[in-house]
Amino acid sequence: MTQDVPLRERYPGITRIPYHVGIIMDGNGRWAQARGLPRMAGHRAGTENIRRVLRAAVELGIKVLTIYAFSTENWARPPAEVNALMRLLGEVIRRELKELHENGVCIRHSGRLEGIAPHLQREILNAVSLTCHNERIILNVAFNYGGRAEIVDAVRHIMRDGHPADAVTEALISQYLYTGGLPDVDLIIRTGGEYRLSNFLIWQAAYAEYYATPTYWPDFDEHELARALEEYSHRERRFGRVTPAEG
Ligand code: IPE
Ligand code: IPE
Ligand code: MG
Repeated sequence: MTQDVPLRERYPGITRIPYHVGIIMDGNGRWAQARGLPRMAGHRAGTENIRRVLRAAVELGIKVLTIYAFSTENWARPPAEVNALMRLLGEVIRRELKELHENGVCIRHSGRLEGIAPHLQREILNAVSLTCHNERIILNVAFNYGGRAEIVDAVRHIMRDGHPADAVTEALISQYLYTGGLPDVDLIIRTGGEYRLSNFLIWQAAYAEYYATPTYWPDFDEHELARALEEYSHRERRFGRVTPAEG
């Protein structure tokens, strides 16, 4: 019964909705280990969980959700796990794309395509182009993503386009990042209990608020998301000023 009560009513402490939320979906392996299952079972459960959290994000009015799915550093994992994670992305795209599209989700990819198998690159690009006019929420998938690689790629691109040194501004660099056109991230949530960025949105998070929870990603549900937003509502964002900024 309580399930039918809208989240905003259940959590009156949510008074401010972050426009752009980033999630470091960590703890899949430990979730599986705690159940005596192989790590891959945790990754599967983790991808299942994206649907639940995305639905809650839409309900709460979040407009951009960036999820960290595979980092440039994750290539250093055992090849069997890397291969399985690559396969899993393809499976998720094939299984979920139609429904995501019907539900008005605009899919974006942040990360390097180079290094990803060509057929998977095609599936990513297809998902992005199919859904690019959808407006309910942007689901930005950080896959083969590294914040430093992103800055390197942006600088290379800026130089190739022939911008003179004096024309390089913060706004120009922002525009050339994988996230070009998206506003900076307002809130970064990390599941799995660590307190670090692990190379996630290092440029865009300059003034983000941080929220960490020990909950492993497969167990992070709509109530946990609501609690993170309650906590965010209490934060005073000053952006270097003396008094809080509007919004
Ligand atoms: C996060 O879960 C998913 C990826 C990094 C792909 P982990 O696989 O890092 O899980 P833990 O941190 O080992 O529990
Ligand atoms: C961060 O998790 C990357 C993703 C969630 C995709 P990691 O498990 O790779 O981070 P570290 O190694 O603990 O910093
Ligand atoms: Mg981890």
